[in-house]
Amino acid sequence: MERKKIYKETKLVSGSDKAGIKDCAEHLLGGEVVAFPTETVYGLGANAFDAEAVSGIFAAKGRPSDNPLICHVGDRSQIGGIVSEITPLAQKLIDAFMPGPITVIMKKSDKIPPEVTAGLDTVGVRMPSDPVANSFLKACKVPVAAPSANLSGTPSPTNARAVMEDMDGYVYAVIDGGDSVFGLESTVVDATGEKPVILRPGAVTKADIEDCANGDAAYAGTLEAGQTPKAPGMKYRHYAPFANVEIMDMPKDAVLIGDESDGTPVSEAKVPDFEKMTEDDRQALVDIASPFIHREKEILKANPFARIGIFAGLEVKALYEKLGDKILLAHTEFYEYGNALDVRAASHSLFEGLRHLDCQEVDTILAQGLTGGGMATAYMNRLTKAAGKKGELLPGMPKPERPSRGELPLEAFKDTYTAQILFADDDNTCLSQVCDAVMTGLIEKNSPYETLVSRNIGCEIYVESAGITASDGASCDPGIVKAVSEALGRNISHCRATRADPAIYDASDLIITVRDEHAFAICRAFPQIKDKVFSLSSFAASCGLVFKDANGRMVSISIPDPRGENEATYMHTVKALKAWLEVLFPYLIKALGADRA
Ligand code: TXA
Ligand code: MG
Repeated sequence: MERKKIYKETKLVSGSDKAGIKDCAEHLLGGEVVAFPTETVYGLGANAFDAEAVSGIFAAKGRPSDNPLICHVGDRSQIGGIVSEITPLAQKLIDAFMPGPITVIMKKSDKIPPEVTAGLDTVGVRMPSDPVANSFLKACKVPVAAPSANLSGTPSPTNARAVMEDMDGYVYAVIDGGDSVFGLESTVVDATGEKPVILRPGAVTKADIEDCANGDAAYAGTLEAGQTPKAPGMKYRHYAPFANVEIMDMPKDAVLIGDESDGTPVSEAKVPDFEKMTEDDRQALVDIASPFIHREKEILKANPFARIGIFAGLEVKALYEKLGDKILLAHTEFYEYGNALDVRAASHSLFEGLRHLDCQEVDTILAQGLTGGGMATAYMNRLTKAAGKKGELLPGMPKPERPSRGELPLEAFKDTYTAQILFADDDNTCLSQVCDAVMTGLIEKNSPYETLVSRNIGCEIYVESAGITASDGASCDPGIVKAVSEALGRNISHCRATRADPAIYDASDLIITVRDEHAFAICRAFPQIKDKVFSLSSFAASCGLVFKDANGRMVSISIPDPRGENEATYMHTVKALKAWLEVLFPYLIKALGADRA
């Protein structure tokens, strides 16, 4: 299905903006599509009584229209208008779990057009508990047909920004209700028969449903003879990020936290204190983390340039850091969701974590597997699908692309921190100016950034250049000005040389020289800062990046000074520096203590 932008920009409406929500409801009634928050994931809604409006959802999502949508209501009294029969089982489920993270499948009424249910004679009904969803649905007055608000095939969105990434220009508005509480879609239960059949596991667990129904519940696919599995829509590529996903098994004897919703709140995440732990507890942590470390080492052995994302507990990150293998750390991007065995925390962050890691340009994501019978069933259901993405792209579904994150103003962060990278050479009129221009471009293109310490703290990255023997105010070499303008489209004619001094070294978090001898000269003069001074070559080596020529011989990054040479040499110099800095960019950002936000 061809996706066409139909809005110049999609409105972002705050969940507390009553007039904005009313306006969204009016536009929905007028036939437009509006994204809204729920406690599971964000939904992409249209008037369920209006077949044409519903076709707008499929167009925005790029979703094949043979996958049925569920109908959302703000009040139980609306259910009677959607279905033709409420079985005793359905009534029990409605009474016990609505509003909440459940979708109950019932026989549909004639008022719901076949476009909503993909021709099925049943319909899914859901009443979200999220207060913003509830006020929006009440304002709409009609049932709202809505799938999850992601582009077909990609991880579902659990915040407004993730929806904007996929939907800006394709829908009328996105209502921002903050982070979805559960982070995984609702439990879908077929209640047309006597026995509940779970078509999709979610936060309402099998045990919850069995308690309510006073009897067994089955998962679709494990039905008894004579019954037909009813799980349309589960056959497509689902939840998959651009990177490959591999699941790391949890230790067999480990005990999950929060697998059943027994009412006890999940305890706050704690960073482990290795010194104060018992030997057994320490061993338990090592058992959780070691599959990640082993697998990552294997991947890096096969490909020293691989970049690995880790979706795991904060204990796993702490163990990696304790291990202190600099090369391993340089190649690793973490998304820590809370404590490793806390299945609610893992579920809450799964989709956002996959999206975040994708933006760090990782090739492979190693994700924590959690086996259990409650919430863990839902978590593993999504994670297994994300890991098995290959070969499941149907004709018409959008081609997977590495996402770029939607806008995030610095005000979105609680606090901001600054980091500075300095490029140094001898006179600051040629090579260091090129690096400054290239890096400034890369920083702009990939912004914003957050600190590695906390996702709530933004990071502004400054780029400077200076020369060890520069005369302050000297103009750039004209040959390099021309080449930079042609190769990068940047004007550096106004840039002037700065003499490197202790103050600028002190203000910089990372100092990079193009040539080895310049790094060496700085370290000799200021041995106390040697840990933050690198040449391009020694920086690459510190990250374990080994470059080889066609004959398999190791090569170092060597860029001769082009001055006195012809125009082609100047051009070649700029292009070579650009290529190297692009390769090193994610590692440089990490060395500055930052991550793409
Ligand atoms: O939590 C949720 O359920 C979210 C939020 C937005 O409410 N919605 C959601 O919708 O996940 P969607 O379309 O991404 O997934 C709905 C699932 C699909 O797997 C679909 O095949 C199944 O429910 N489904 C819908 N109607 C059905 C029906 N009549 N019979 C069987 N399965 C149905
Ligand atoms: Mg979905």
